[in-house]
Amino acid sequence: MDATVNVNGVVTAGDQAVVSVFDHGFLYGDGVYETLRTYNRHPFLLDRHLARLRASATRLALDVPPTDHELETSMRDTMSRVNPEGEVMLRMLVTRGVGDLTYDPASCPHPTIVIIARAHRDTPEEVVRIGVHVVLASVLRNHPRSVDPSIKSNNLLNNVLAMQEAIHQGAYEAILLNHRGELTECSQSNLFAVRDGVVLTPPLDAGLLEGVTRNFLFEVGREIGVPVREAVLREPDLDHVDELFITSTTREVVPVVRVGERPVGTGRPGPIASRLLVRFRELAEALTGAHVGDS
Ligand SMILES: Cc1ncc(COP(=O)(O)O)c(C=O)c1O
Repeated sequence: MDATVNVNGVVTAGDQAVVSVFDHGFLYGDGVYETLRTYNRHPFLLDRHLARLRASATRLALDVPPTDHELETSMRDTMSRVNPEGEVMLRMLVTRGVGDLTYDPASCPHPTIVIIARAHRDTPEEVVRIGVHVVLASVLRNHPRSVDPSIKSNNLLNNVLAMQEAIHQGAYEAILLNHRGELTECSQSNLFAVRDGVVLTPPLDAGLLEGVTRNFLFEVGREIGVPVREAVLREPDLDHVDELFITSTTREVVPVVRVGERPVGTGRPGPIASRLLVRFRELAEALTGAHVGDS
């Protein structure tokens, strides 16, 4: 993969980047991460991603010693070597660090901080125009008192298992239900439904990641006069929605036209997802464009 990687301040080509096998991130998934992308080569909503990174780390009692400014400087330094003409995807990981074969965090005196930068790949316009097929996974989203889905942790087996089901069925994503049978989110994106002109998304209490894009979409909706609110949704509700779409940092807004064998609404991407996406992109461009010229 064509990437540039920063491991504890050492920047190399992706295939030269090295982390110890005794790193507890590798051994136990003991760590947290964020995925960001740039518009106008500026990491979008960086402050929100850093705030979530620190919130996730706090839940693991994991120290993140660098300041936000230092993290931003490292990110910009790493991405400066990537895709000079285009946009960049950044993945920042903070793990417990290198230690003994024990769960005791005291054995890891220093966290490991990794930044992976590579060219951002836009969701193909064809995908946005035609919409995607998703499945309902048989695996449930982790119970919040297990590995809480609100922690963006490197411990991603729940997501991996759900996505394997999607891949197996030729689908783009997998929706996960919670232990109460409510819809939560997808393996790597948040879920939204549109009913009678109102956009609904499962509440945080359902057990899901509080997506940065999800939160931004509430603001985008307000801008264009489309109400966006939280609501408990269950599988039968899928038969009574006009539109369904997913959101994430790298995918923006992607319309869903089929869940398993069940067509959504008209079976074609709907107008509200499309309007939200247009305004989302305008805002992303405007918010990052304001920085053009800084460095
Ligand atoms: C499980 C899960 N839900 C939702 C999202 C979307 O979050 P964001 O909008 O912050 O990218 C992601 C992104 O990776 C995710 O992994």
